[in-house]
Amino acid sequence: MWGGRFAEGPSAIMREINASIPFDKALWRQDIAASKAHVAMLGAQGIVSADDAATITDGLDAVAAEYERDGVPENWDLEDIHMTTESRLAELIGPAAGRLHTARSRNDQVATDFKLWVREAIEQTDAGLAALQHALVTQAGRHADSIMPGFTHLQTAQPVTLGHHLLAYYEMLRRDRSRLADARARMNECPLGSAALAGTGFPIDRDATSEALGFARPTANSLDAVSDRDFALDYLMAASQIALHLSRLAEEFIIWASQPFGFVRMADSLSTGSSIMPQKKNPDAAELVRGHAGRVIGSATALMITMKGLPLAYSKDMQDDKPPVFEAASLLALSIAAMTGMVADSTFKTDRMRQAAELGYATATDLADWLVREADIPFREAHHITGAAVKLAEQKGAALDELSMEELKAIDERIDERVYTALSVEASVAARSSYGGTAPEQVMRQVETARKALGIA
Ligand code: ARG
Repeated sequence: MWGGRFAEGPSAIMREINASIPFDKALWRQDIAASKAHVAMLGAQGIVSADDAATITDGLDAVAAEYERDGVPENWDLEDIHMTTESRLAELIGPAAGRLHTARSRNDQVATDFKLWVREAIEQTDAGLAALQHALVTQAGRHADSIMPGFTHLQTAQPVTLGHHLLAYYEMLRRDRSRLADARARMNECPLGSAALAGTGFPIDRDATSEALGFARPTANSLDAVSDRDFALDYLMAASQIALHLSRLAEEFIIWASQPFGFVRMADSLSTGSSIMPQKKNPDAAELVRGHAGRVIGSATALMITMKGLPLAYSKDMQDDKPPVFEAASLLALSIAAMTGMVADSTFKTDRMRQAAELGYATATDLADWLVREADIPFREAHHITGAAVKLAEQKGAALDELSMEELKAIDERIDERVYTALSVEASVAARSSYGGTAPEQVMRQVETARKALGIA
């Protein structure tokens, strides 16, 4: 395709290092769509004849049908998906095929194809996240009043509800989805027609190709258009943050499924056994989601480092943009599906969670709050008094509400019988009814809002 000025062909090493067809064949649908939009525009503008445009269009459909049926052939001499398609087109329709590349370069072609691919990946990722949110909201609705210990520093802090805990992840994914929507809107400008780097002298209609491919408008600067991979980075950045959130959720499941916690029984379908220890049921899916997050984040790093030293406009380094994006997208899709199954199909051991909430003096803040509210004691002093009560309970190996009235009065005589109602875990969560708080009534409000946002009846 470019051999005119060369005396010899490329060496075997050159052919191998140059070939992107092993991975960019994944762009074949986008490549065909962009070529069809381009040739329709060339025909409409009279840059190629109507006959040639029709022949090329039919030929592209025939190539697409072959790819669909037999897969894309991998010939390193043809370098990439763009030349593979054009070469097959020439075999099928003859010399007219040579007119397709008028007013176009592989530089604007690859930018267009790749953008189309990333745009679809965003849509698929978003749909996956919506399904995971659905699973979270469904479980949250079931567990709006299931009490568990809430942690800070992974130390028992205050009782919370499981529904509240799960909805925290719903919120993270809500932000992730808005990042995807931003990225999609920002990237939706069509590079086609930027040609190699400087634009073209042919009377092309960039608005027509942009519209045909579902973009909002053509890109405004041809140098930028062929050298820009921000759209891929935006996706990888959003993907990294999603992977990070999935990894945190996976980590919670790993902890909760461990025997000392015993908060959750994961579905057999997402667990594995041990070849030596018969009792084992391992949370491998969750561990792999946690592991995959490292690879997704690595993809974002890889592409940033590929791009950071490149002068305008296109450099061949940019061919390395695709493997990290393809890898991140497939790891992410698997991770989202695994976490959706895990959330939907796990059995939460609510008795065990409630027991754990009663250990660890999770209602100590409630005692302090009670002293402030009922005895008008300044919070700092109430904190100190409560600390003394926890110390005593710890010495006795008892829970706070197992201390006798005498013992409590010995610590501070302003404490009276009414305090016991404040010390139960139920009273503790019910009291936290501020907007966004853990009280079951608040959690149900959050569930309702989420259901509406997701369109769940
Ligand atoms: N295979 C190339 C890529 O993926 C296509 C663009 C090649 N352009 C060029 N001038 N060599 O980036």
